[in-house]
Amino acid sequence: MSRPDPSACLNLSSSRTRQLLVGGMRQDFPIFEHPMRGKRLVYLDSAASAQKPQVVIDTVQRFYTEEYANIHRGVYELSEEATQIYEGNREKVRRLINAREIREMVYVRGTTEGLNLLAATFGRQRLGEGDEILLTEMEHHSNIVPWQMLCEQTGAKIVVAPITDDGALDMDAFEKLLGPKVKLVSVAHISNALGTVNPVKEITRLAHDKGIPVIIDGAQAVPHIAVDVQDIDCDFYVFSGHKIYGPTGIGILYGKAELLEQMPPYQGGGDMILTVSFKGTTYNEIPYRFEAGTPDIAGAIGLGTAIIYVQSLGFDAISAHNDKLLNYGTELLQEIPGLRLIGTAPEKVAVLSFVMDGIHPHDIGTILDSRGIAIRAGHHCAQPVMERFNIPATTRASIGIYNDKSDLDALAEGLREVRRMFG
Ligand code: ALA
Repeated sequence: MSRPDPSACLNLSSSRTRQLLVGGMRQDFPIFEHPMRGKRLVYLDSAASAQKPQVVIDTVQRFYTEEYANIHRGVYELSEEATQIYEGNREKVRRLINAREIREMVYVRGTTEGLNLLAATFGRQRLGEGDEILLTEMEHHSNIVPWQMLCEQTGAKIVVAPITDDGALDMDAFEKLLGPKVKLVSVAHISNALGTVNPVKEITRLAHDKGIPVIIDGAQAVPHIAVDVQDIDCDFYVFSGHKIYGPTGIGILYGKAELLEQMPPYQGGGDMILTVSFKGTTYNEIPYRFEAGTPDIAGAIGLGTAIIYVQSLGFDAISAHNDKLLNYGTELLQEIPGLRLIGTAPEKVAVLSFVMDGIHPHDIGTILDSRGIAIRAGHHCAQPVMERFNIPATTRASIGIYNDKSDLDALAEGLREVRRMFG
C-alpha cells in the first residue's frame, strides 16, 4: 500500500514563508470559508485551541477512510502500515523539540495528562513528607492541581515563585525559593494568561545546580517558538497537539530516557506490558510502558502532519509574524480609553489579555461574538494569575498563523463599539 506523504501536499518553498510574513496563512484553514454570525470569522482564541489546516484534516480523514487498523497488534498489512505511520510520527516530534531519542517521546492525551502522569509516577516516587515542589504564580491549573493532589498523598508542599507587576517571573525570588527542601520545579514555558516567556534555560540551570529536576509545561510555546529540549536541558517537557494546529486528544510527554526508565507505569492495560500472568506482570520498555490501551492513533498521525506543516513555514517566520501582530495589536489596544493590558513582560508572545473599566469580560466577549470575533473571557484556567492582579477575569485575544492585521483592526473596532455601548 503506498501512502501520499503529507509534506508533498505542501510547497516547501520560501513563497509560503513570504506569504506568512505578508498576510498570514488563512487560506490553508477551511474554517475561514464559513462566516460566523454572518460575518468574516476573526479567530483570536488560538491559546485555547488552534484551527486545523486542510492538510491535517486530510491526513486524519485518509487514515480513517483508507488506512485504519489498530497498531502493534495485527499481523496483516493494514495494521502493520498503521503501526509504521504511528511510530514514524515519533521521529517528527523528536525533531520538533530536538530530543536525543525517539523513545523519549511518550504519546499522551495532552499537556494535562502529561503533567498528571508525571505527578503520579515521577512525583509519587520522589516526593515525601516535608519536600517542596516549586511552581510559579503564573501556572495553568493543570500545572497546579496534579501537584496539590500529590501533596495530599505524600505530605509534600507547594511553594510559589511570584510574578512582577508586568507579569514577568521574579527570578530573584525564584532563586531564593530554591531551597534544600525543593525536590522538583515545574514551570510554564509561556503563560497562557499573560503571554510571558519564561527563561526556562536559566531556570533549569539554577535548579540543576542544586540537583533538582525540572518539568516544563510547553503547551503555549510549541506553536510559537523553536523548542530545543537538549539546549534547555529540562528533564521533562509536555505539550498538546491541538495548540500546534493538530488534532485534539493527543499530546507529548518528553522525558530524558534515563529518568523515564526509572519511572513506574501510569496506567495498566494492553501494550504497556511484556508478560502478564496472575503471578505478576512485567512491564514494557519506554515509551510503551506509559501508553496503556489503544491510543489516539489518528490524533498522533494528524499531529505528525501538523508538525510538518509548521516546519514548512519555519519558526523564524512564525515568530516574526507573531511579533509583528502582537506589537500592532498592543498599539491599537493602548488607544482604547479605559483599557488596561494585563501582562506586559519584555519577553512575551501571542497574547493580549486586558480589562476595561466597568465592563465585565463576558459582556465584551458577547459583543465581540456578535461581530464574528472569537476571543476568550474568564480566568483562563489560571485563577492565581487573576488573584495576583486583583481582578476576576480578563478578556484575552490570542494570535495564530492565520491572523493578520485586519483581525486586530476588527478587534479594536469591536472594543470601541463596546466602549460606546457602555458609555
Ligand atoms: N489552556 C487553554 C487556554 O488557555 C484552554 O485557553
